[in-house]
Amino acid sequence: MRGPEAAELFYDESRFKRRGAMPEPVRATLLGKGGVQGLDDEAHRLRKAMFMSLMSDERVEKLARLVEREWLKAISSWASEEEVMRYHAIQPILMRAVCKWAAVPLSSAEEVKRTRDVVALFDQAAALGLGHLKARIARRRSERWLAAVIEETRTGRICPANESALAVVAGHRDASGELLPPRIAAVELLNVLRPTVAVSVYIVFVAHALHRFPENVPESANGDCAVRFVQEVRRFYPFFPALIARTRRAFRWKGVAFPKGRQVLLDLHGTNCSEPWSDPEEFRPERFIDAPRDLFMFIPQGGGDHHRHHRCPGEPITLALMKVALRLLTSRIAYHVPPQNLRIDRTRLPALPMSQFHVSIDRLLPDGANDDATWQS
Ligand code: HEM
Repeated sequence: MRGPEAAELFYDESRFKRRGAMPEPVRATLLGKGGVQGLDDEAHRLRKAMFMSLMSDERVEKLARLVEREWLKAISSWASEEEVMRYHAIQPILMRAVCKWAAVPLSSAEEVKRTRDVVALFDQAAALGLGHLKARIARRRSERWLAAVIEETRTGRICPANESALAVVAGHRDASGELLPPRIAAVELLNVLRPTVAVSVYIVFVAHALHRFPENVPESANGDCAVRFVQEVRRFYPFFPALIARTRRAFRWKGVAFPKGRQVLLDLHGTNCSEPWSDPEEFRPERFIDAPRDLFMFIPQGGGDHHRHHRCPGEPITLALMKVALRLLTSRIAYHVPPQNLRIDRTRLPALPMSQFHVSIDRLLPDGANDDATWQS
């Protein structure tokens, strides 16, 4: 299904449920088993509230500042070694920052291994054969690691700050008043770490759009024009392709029969790139000046209401980190783009430029007039 009306139908909880909808290979890699994505009704709302409690403006801003700091530190070392910024080079930066933010201990000795595993969850989930097997192993290893961290938190060997993701998830109780089993808590903690590292995909697309559509580079990396630019990146570039739910009962909609128990796919990118969007194939950030505030029309990270529906709770983090990338790439880093194949490879998931987009960093620029930057949309 595609389009705002279909999206609204898809989020109608009287007709669709999530339990048992997602195929096992996706749950065994990308999502994990027993997490918020497969819950419905009251159980879902309670678990979702846990994620939403992590997304205050202050907390999101704190993560954005951590990412910026880690990124600038990394660039200094790349520049001295004349290295380049690539998709895979951004991921350890995001991993270091989000672990610090979430209060998840990550020693420098284990950083490479843990980051590789977390990346495999979203970068290899749709691979076939060996790639898929690697993602399954990465999921098992990551859950074991984080389940141990949860247990150590509950026994007091790790003492995270109250507002941190680790403390919130370790202390969360379900409707029966029980703490989450450590493995499920690990799945939920990974639901914070994994997608934050996956913002690397959108960061690559920010860099790609700056290069490919220079006439649209915002005048300032803050304020409304920056927000419009990153929103258009989220609309224009393909990322999370489709969602899946299962019908609770039989019904007809627009002449189509939906039998009970049928799996139904909602095409996210198709919804962002077809009517009622005008000239959807054009990259035009200014379309967001007067785009209607419709909960089902612009759905790169799902639709509906953040608290009530399954819509991604991490949208504020995603926007904030994309704006960090925009700011660094437009005002803190002097770089050039060597010749490379910039065509988007839609055969891989997530889609990326064929070259995975790399830039050569010439030098860091002094921090200028953007000191009062704020990362919120
Ligand atoms: C990389 C950019 C991101 C993309 C493309 C993305 C995309 C999505 C999509 C499509 C959904 C499913 C919505 C639905 O089922 O209706 C989702 C759900 C979710 N996302 Fe994100 N997301 C991103 C970043 C984040 C971040 C940064 C976090 C947390 C720090 C996050 C946490 C979650 C969680 C916990 C869910 C499940 C929500 C639920 O089932 O109620 N995501 N995301």
